[in-house]
Amino acid sequence: MLELFTFNAALLLLGVFSLYLLSLAIYRLYLDPIAKFPGPKLAALTLWYQFYYDVLKQGKYTVEIEKMHEAYGPIVRINPYELHINDPDYYDNLYVGGSVRKTIRYGWATRMFGKTSSTLGTISHDLHRIRRGAIAPFFSKQSVQKLEPEVQLVIEKLISRFHALQGSDTSINLIDAFSALAGDVISQYTFAQPYGLMDSPDFAPWWHKAWIEISKNSHKFTQFGWLEPTLRMMPLFVVKVLSPPMVALIEMQDSLKKQVIEVKTELQAGRKNTGQRTIFHDVLTNDNIRPEEKGTEHLKNEAQLVVAAGTVTTAQTLATTSFYLIENPPILEKLQQELGTVMKTEGQRPDWQQLEQLPYLTAVIHEGLRIAYGIMHRLQRISPDEAIQFNEWTIPPMTPVSMSAKMLHDNPKIFPNPRSFSPERWLQPSPYRLENLAYCELYLALAAVFAPGGFRLELFETDISDVETPHDYVNPCHRAESKGIRVRVK
Ligand code: HEM
Repeated sequence: MLELFTFNAALLLLGVFSLYLLSLAIYRLYLDPIAKFPGPKLAALTLWYQFYYDVLKQGKYTVEIEKMHEAYGPIVRINPYELHINDPDYYDNLYVGGSVRKTIRYGWATRMFGKTSSTLGTISHDLHRIRRGAIAPFFSKQSVQKLEPEVQLVIEKLISRFHALQGSDTSINLIDAFSALAGDVISQYTFAQPYGLMDSPDFAPWWHKAWIEISKNSHKFTQFGWLEPTLRMMPLFVVKVLSPPMVALIEMQDSLKKQVIEVKTELQAGRKNTGQRTIFHDVLTNDNIRPEEKGTEHLKNEAQLVVAAGTVTTAQTLATTSFYLIENPPILEKLQQELGTVMKTEGQRPDWQQLEQLPYLTAVIHEGLRIAYGIMHRLQRISPDEAIQFNEWTIPPMTPVSMSAKMLHDNPKIFPNPRSFSPERWLQPSPYRLENLAYCELYLALAAVFAPGGFRLELFETDISDVETPHDYVNPCHRAESKGIRVRVK
């Protein structure tokens, strides 16, 4: 009797669940406000479609979205909630400032690196403005110029490491070397304490590896919002077994938190900061910034964002640009001729302002940023209050809409033969002004590494398959078997 009851109850539950799934499918396919948008039905039905490509096939949904555009046109519904646009002319209509309309971030996607109060993870339009406003002055062109000598010091260290290896058989992985450079620059610039990565004999390969491993978790963290908070609650030795990259993240968060507390204690004791100011001093002593943006937990999150944002993107751009310069002697020669006009003696280091005036170096940097993609994953924006228009399509308010740098940068109509490295395409006067810490690093580092008359870098067991990034783990990622972009110093 009990068995029959249990059987019937299970049957009933199954029936109710099937009915729920059927209603959900009908809603998503026919009744949802974005049901009319083109795209594969399976993608509209369930997020498991994206899970298959991003988690099981390892960061391949972006490539799949590209195929959807080929089949369905410039706007597609890529999952039950989100639309994706592949039309470069629309870029300035989607990513708008507050004076055009309010825009909010997509909460589901902001948890890609875990739940955070950082500027990047802030959903609300108004709160984002406040938080961004609190840290923006620290990264203004004026601030970067003030701290340029600190950046130059770190670059000088890299150059002396290259000199020390000149003529030896030792190969250097440029991805590790530039990650160490970017990590030391951002920590020196922001916290007045370089991490000392450049002092490691092999350029601390664990540093780049940790960020890539963390990136590899991004799709799982987005799909399963409970995963990151659960891992965070566990003892460290359990996390070490379940998700080694999380350990690096937790340890870094702890050290950043310690630093915030130290600065707070220093300020409370009325001690004056006699050394280089840090981003924490700047925020904590600014009376115009609300107490909410001065909380220890929030400042720790913000610091982590800055370190993460400042490391992988910059290193990836520098390593990729270097590969193409070494691979293309005529381009390198042209660059060195131009650099020779401001670098007349060995070791002469022009400042950022001088280097910015060089049109070919500027074109090389633009082309490096284009070909390396920066952030590969699509970036969603939501218009909370008003519908937005794309061609004949009216997109309802609160719909996440995204575009992807990969598709914009590889668009053959704007960039003919897009996977070839051609700085010439940027030689016309550009409307873009390159002025933040990343650009300062790109100008100073490329000028120093490729200075005329110094050492020469030669590729070592590296080809284009070590440079291309077939995996979108938010950051563009190389094939797993690649040993890096390796060079020998001649
Ligand atoms: C080549 C180097 C870099 C590239 C390609 C790059 C690219 C990007 C992109 C595409 C975003 C927008 C993300 C979004 O809208 O959701 C972003 C945000 C951000 N980046 Fe970078 N970045 C680079 C270097 C840096 C550096 C060196 C720093 C630190 C000084 C930095 C700090 C930030 C911050 C704080 C945000 C969040 C801004 C916000 O949410 O308003 N980035 N970066």
